Amino acid sequence: MKKYIVGNWKMNHNLSNIEDFFSSLKIEGAQCETWVAPQAIHVPHLIERAKGTNLKIGVQNICEHEKGAFTGEISVTSALDIGATFCLVGHSERRSLYNEDDDLLNKKVHTALNSGMKVIFCVGEQLIERQNGMTNKVLKNQILEGLEGIKPNSFQDGQLLIAYEPVWAIGTGEVATPEQAQQAHAHIRAVLAVELRLETKEIPLLYGGSVKPANAEGLLSQKDIDGALVGGASLKGDDFTKLTNII
Ligand code: 13P
Repeated sequence: MKKYIVGNWKMNHNLSNIEDFFSSLKIEGAQCETWVAPQAIHVPHLIERAKGTNLKIGVQNICEHEKGAFTGEISVTSALDIGATFCLVGHSERRSLYNEDDDLLNKKVHTALNSGMKVIFCVGEQLIERQNGMTNKVLKNQILEGLEGIKPNSFQDGQLLIAYEPVWAIGTGEVATPEQAQQAHAHIRAVLAVELRLETKEIPLLYGGSVKPANAEGLLSQKDIDGALVGGASLKGDDFTKLTNII
């Protein structure tokens, strides 16, 4: 299975910061997939800027509809048209700040996969849910609801990825231990295989939540962790480069 370092830039970086990122990025020899999702408004610029590098560019969100009267939304077919290759669906900030529920996220996953766009479907428990011993149940529910109706063999290898991002670890500096992350990833693989009959060898599982070069080695060496979805540390080209050397 391929390995992945994926940057989620969220609503950060201007054009000048983007130049700084590229000036310290050294990924020519990287053995992993290297992806970045900038703000939507910067996607065409990033696609131009990344030409000649191994960096692939995606969007942080897509609309569940392909086209039409949906002011302010991002069409998956238009994103593909300009050269974006992947999208995030179900990031915890979309779930909590924009009230995106399982039903909507499921529609987005279907729309993206049907259009041939790669999807990183994000799941993760809140702190209170972990404290109450509900992590496995929450992850199972999010996967079963979000991926409902996705048929085995209905997508190509590597078209669907899952990111486990415990909400309490996102942007907090409090990273999951390698054991906590491995346990959650093993559980996700089991749910995909047993409940959905999806061939899990073809579904990369990424960990996200306060990943940085200083803590990545323990996480990325776990058996069921195929890469990282990185927020803050992906904004700097040298940290991004270091992560690609660790994996
Ligand atoms: P941080 O790496 O900043 O914690 O963000 C993680 C994240 O939300 C990636 O999608």
